[in-house]
Amino acid sequence: MKMKKNLLLITLLLLGFITKAQKFDDLAQTPPMGWNSWNKFACNVSDEMLRDIADAMVSSGMKDAGYEYIVVDDCWHGERDSLGFIHENKEHFPSGIKATIDYIHSKGLKFGIYSCAGAETCAGKPGSRGHEFQDALTYAQWGVDYLKYDWCNTENINAIGAYTTMRDALYAAKRPVVFSLCEWGDNKPWEWGAEVGHLWRTTGDIYDCFDCEEDHGTWSSWGVMKILDMQDGLREFAGPGHWNDPDMMEVGNGGMTTNEDRAHFSMWCMLASPLIAGNDLTNMSEETLTILTNKEAIAVNQDSLGIQGFKFADKDSLETWFKPLSEGNWAVCFLNRSAEAKDIEFDWKTKVYDEFAKRDLDAAETSYEILDIWTNQKMGKTKKVLKTEVPSHDVVMLKLSKK
Ligand code: GLA
Repeated sequence: MKMKKNLLLITLLLLGFITKAQKFDDLAQTPPMGWNSWNKFACNVSDEMLRDIADAMVSSGMKDAGYEYIVVDDCWHGERDSLGFIHENKEHFPSGIKATIDYIHSKGLKFGIYSCAGAETCAGKPGSRGHEFQDALTYAQWGVDYLKYDWCNTENINAIGAYTTMRDALYAAKRPVVFSLCEWGDNKPWEWGAEVGHLWRTTGDIYDCFDCEEDHGTWSSWGVMKILDMQDGLREFAGPGHWNDPDMMEVGNGGMTTNEDRAHFSMWCMLASPLIAGNDLTNMSEETLTILTNKEAIAVNQDSLGIQGFKFADKDSLETWFKPLSEGNWAVCFLNRSAEAKDIEFDWKTKVYDEFAKRDLDAAETSYEILDIWTNQKMGKTKKVLKTEVPSHDVVMLKLSKK
């Protein structure tokens, strides 16, 4: 009898082990790339707008550059029905959101949706609290590939628990979904997020300015330099399948100059940040498109090692950042935060050792070829001291190749 009981127990334990909920592994092995509606369109989301964005993603060359996900943020929602299933806003999605998603898939793109761990989203639409498994099933039926999961109206609930419940719900629904934790860094998601999702917001919301704080009364949103500073100490938590997310980009939204947009994009590449554009893709300037589709900058971001860059030096508003790349290569970015142009001199023999990645730049021994990522000019080798100028609120971003 005892023997039988033990066998039963072992079988149950094994079954439990086999069916153990987890996140979908193998997704987001490099930082996710895509577009999200919030920064530019806020609550003005519709079938028509999303189709136009998908068309523009393809025709502009953004898809070819690697952008993949079209993510609808807050306000796509209608009401829950009498059984609790969520529906889209019928006025803005007259053919049903599934038709929008099918269209996006037909363009070779993937689709992301938005919900919230609270009973209501930040804009007061129905959230997923208490409906997690139902919502995950609905998303799977619709063909959703990515979920951004927000943190409004969650007073007194446990963040790890709330996000793990949705992770388990997505896993149970069996359609692979990139899970984006939008918890604003409140409960140190970098410490537990890798088990739960594929990326986690590290800060409050971004604001379309270079270095300001926008005060909303009870909370603030932050310019790109403020957000950059808040990434300090987080790099060791990022890697393939689990990324720090300093928020969606503001490139092309008009609050910054072209130099500032370029600096913003470059730093998001150095940080191995998700590259989620937030501008109107149907109406972009040449400068904006050039920034968003720079092949070499994107290659730095998407490098297969997945090592987040680090700040090596910081003096008189001039920062020097390094990011180890595969094949022994490196990216270097000089960021000028001051109001004046700055001359720089960098002796490549300077000892640069990445303690976290255990990698040595070793330019005293190895001669690297230098490529200026923004001018696309070869700049010789690392034998000579680098002398150049960095414009105000801009970068000089280089790739060092071992050859
Ligand atoms: C929060 C998130 C934003 C956006 C809005 C939508 O503020 O952090 O990224 O999703 O909600 O209401």
